[in-house]
Amino acid sequence: MNASPNPVEQSFEIAATCCADLTPLVYQRLSKEHPETQAMFRSQGSELVKGSMLALTIEAILDLAGERRGHFRLIACEIASHDAYGTPRELFLAFFAVIRDTLRDLLRDEWSPEIAQAWDQLLVEIDAFAAVQA
Ligand code: HEM
Repeated sequence: MNASPNPVEQSFEIAATCCADLTPLVYQRLSKEHPETQAMFRSQGSELVKGSMLALTIEAILDLAGERRGHFRLIACEIASHDAYGTPRELFLAFFAVIRDTLRDLLRDEWSPEIAQAWDQLLVEIDAFAAVQA
């Protein structure tokens, strides 16, 4: 039996009703707001890596906002591996805001104060993971 979705989960569910795949929208926004990322992904096979990176990030976000079964731990692990990929910390964290902003644009009027607040809280918590690993 599923509990009613939390506001973050709800934001993904509503987005899914009007957009089958967030991947192009998220990476278009990322490229526009952080053009330096275009050169960071490998030239061949990057579509697969990008799709998988986004899917795993969303899984971690949903777990963090919900049951916290463990997928959220990916975030702390990836902070360390992205240091090795040469991704600056601020940019790593910016990816979460890019996902949030992509959803906000898709949801328009359905982006409620509850959803906005739940995302704000989540981003603060994610920033704190990075601070712990500083
Ligand atoms: C703008 C911020 C980010 C940039 C520029 C970035 C960059 C990269 C790059 C270059 C790779 C691929 C390395 C390769 O070619 O093998 C990668 C892989 C990956 N990233 Fe990120 N990353 C960002 C944010 C994140 C975040 C926030 C997460 C999750 C918390 C994440 C999770 C992953 C995972 C799981 C992979 C491995 C994907 C796979 O091959 O299955 N990344 N990232």
